[in-house]
Amino acid sequence: MSGKTEKKLAYAFAAESKASVRNATFAKKAEMEGYSQIARLFRAVADAESVHAHRYLLLMRGKIGSTEENLETAFQNEIRANVEEYPKLIKDAAEEGNRTVLKAFSQARDVESLHAELYKKALNDMVSDRETDYYVCQVCGYISEDEAPQRCPICSAVKDKFKRVS
Ligand SMILES: [Fe+2]
Ligand SMILES: [Fe+2]
Repeated sequence: MSGKTEKKLAYAFAAESKASVRNATFAKKAEMEGYSQIARLFRAVADAESVHAHRYLLLMRGKIGSTEENLETAFQNEIRANVEEYPKLIKDAAEEGNRTVLKAFSQARDVESLHAELYKKALNDMVSDRETDYYVCQVCGYISEDEAPQRCPICSAVKDKFKRVS
């Protein structure tokens, strides 16, 4: 594959990924406004854009490895977000005095290091036969194993705000 095609795939992957999340967010807004059928449409299109994004990522060279390699990549990405990327974003938001954005970035930074821990644990015990569900805080992205906490330890969201991933 030429470098040019590689770049086009990377571009299409990023665009479709964004479109997917954007449509899913449009769906949430439609739901809040009482348009459940339109919300369904946005969710369906979000899913379709996600199909495109997956397809392109699988075609890109060297992006998807073995599960062990992917765990290591995912671990490194979380660490980078926690120690390099978010601290810069937090500094800028603090300088601008935007407290809402600062809170969102700060909570995400804290959550990323916890994601890294989950990956590390999985890497250390890939053949474990322990099965657990995960509960994801829909406000800040904190992940709890086994059951949802009464309150999110990062953002204080109530138990109802956790989504089970099995
Ligand atoms: Fe993360
Ligand atoms: Fe949270």
